[in-house]
Amino acid sequence: GGGLLAFRFTGTDSTGTLLRSGIDLPPPFRRPLTQPPVLAPVESTGDTDVYEITQREATAEFFEGVQTPIWGYDGIFPGPTIVSPRGRTTVVRHRNELPVPSVVHLHGGRVAPEHDGYPTDLILPADGSLDDHHGTGHGGHAGDVTHGSRSYEYPIDQRAATLWYHDHRMDFTAPAVWRGLAGLHLVTDEEERALPLPDGDRDLALVIMDRAFDEDGALRYPSRDPELLETPGVTAPYEAGVLGDVILVNGTPWPYQEVDAVRYRLRLLNGCNARRLRLRLDPAPDGVDEPLVQIASDGGLLERPRAHPHIDLASAERQEVVVDFSRYGPGQTVRLVNDFGSGTTADVMEFRVVREARDESEVPERLSEIERLDPADAVRERDMVFQSNAVDGQHGWTINGDPFSVDRVHAAPNHGDIEIWNLYTDFHHPIHLHLVHFQVLKRGSREPGRFDGGWKDTLDLGPAEQARIITRFDGYRGKYVFHCHNLEHEDMMMMGNFEVR
Ligand code: C2O
Ligand code: CU
Repeated sequence: GGGLLAFRFTGTDSTGTLLRSGIDLPPPFRRPLTQPPVLAPVESTGDTDVYEITQREATAEFFEGVQTPIWGYDGIFPGPTIVSPRGRTTVVRHRNELPVPSVVHLHGGRVAPEHDGYPTDLILPADGSLDDHHGTGHGGHAGDVTHGSRSYEYPIDQRAATLWYHDHRMDFTAPAVWRGLAGLHLVTDEEERALPLPDGDRDLALVIMDRAFDEDGALRYPSRDPELLETPGVTAPYEAGVLGDVILVNGTPWPYQEVDAVRYRLRLLNGCNARRLRLRLDPAPDGVDEPLVQIASDGGLLERPRAHPHIDLASAERQEVVVDFSRYGPGQTVRLVNDFGSGTTADVMEFRVVREARDESEVPERLSEIERLDPADAVRERDMVFQSNAVDGQHGWTINGDPFSVDRVHAAPNHGDIEIWNLYTDFHHPIHLHLVHFQVLKRGSREPGRFDGGWKDTLDLGPAEQARIITRFDGYRGKYVFHCHNLEHEDMMMMGNFEVR
């Protein structure tokens, strides 16, 4: 369509280019929230559950009566949810019926390198159409390429947490996830089950994604080909990050959810390519300034609950909160709003409190125990500078001045080493490490921020910010990536390797 891009480069809330939809947007809060279906294993043996997912082209009805072409895990947007109890191995056999190669990464998972979804470890399309393609990436190296399908093995030897899986193909992660290749993978464990937290249908996942749509309902996404760009003066709108004007929750635009006047657990995932969210309940319950009681972050439970007036969430981050809807009366509606948005992106969804009900849930004062990594045990410190830079005469995103290359290893810790990394950023960059979870020691010269608690795998840093993190490189040996999780920055090479030796 004409006038594709409204270019906006904001300094404070998001780094990106806002795409406005061509289709008429429906009024908000008309359709109910749905939870993605939980996938059943095709086979369970002694200690292993085997799942099958087909990646395929399909359509989704985001707008009533309009069929939008998507790429979906099992053809749905977002994909089905996998639930894995700790201690049981999960094998997911992915079959690729898409017209393009794919790669699956379990975000937050502790898995062996060959199952981690390295960006060049492609699954080629099952129809054989790209069998001559050799999966070369920057540096010209082929990865471990499979034809048609691949089994990913996840040992699930990790704490209960809200993980997610998504496409991770070299240079094409952002458009693939935008089309729908993302889903939840929840890990449960005994420790968490023993707590009296809200559960069952009072445990809701909210996968929040912004998208934009063409006049005919197709997903709108900018071309990376400068020849095709329509906005004069904009050389590469793609690379700042892509923002849409429609907010989807679990694939429904601005849904509503009926709730009882009791406590609910909300698992919040920012599944946007580039948009940052500041989520708040509007109105706040009378006399309660901090109604969002955080219980978990990327890597599972916090030690103690922490109440917040709002929750900040950058791409790929998870925060889990308990909201007590008994503070609202039946008949009341309360909105989840996004203070970093404006216009259509300021609304997320609506809760409708429908009735009183019994509530035996509680948020215990002590949720879990977290081993605190001691800086005195760190064997080394490294600086990682995430910045905009010229790459081959073109704008690019780099780490320590270098664009991604499969051959360049930024860090080679020994197995078991504890290291401190100092992360520096020029713009907003949510920094993600594969394999490990980390703890935040400092933000600049200050204490960790209010959302930095617990084990993190993604940390949002603002322009000219600095953070000091600590982690232990254990579990597996081998090569893993770390990168900016603004997916367009990732595709524009803001990614590096660490190799555990
Ligand atoms: Cu969520 Cu390397 O990704
Ligand atoms: Cu970035």
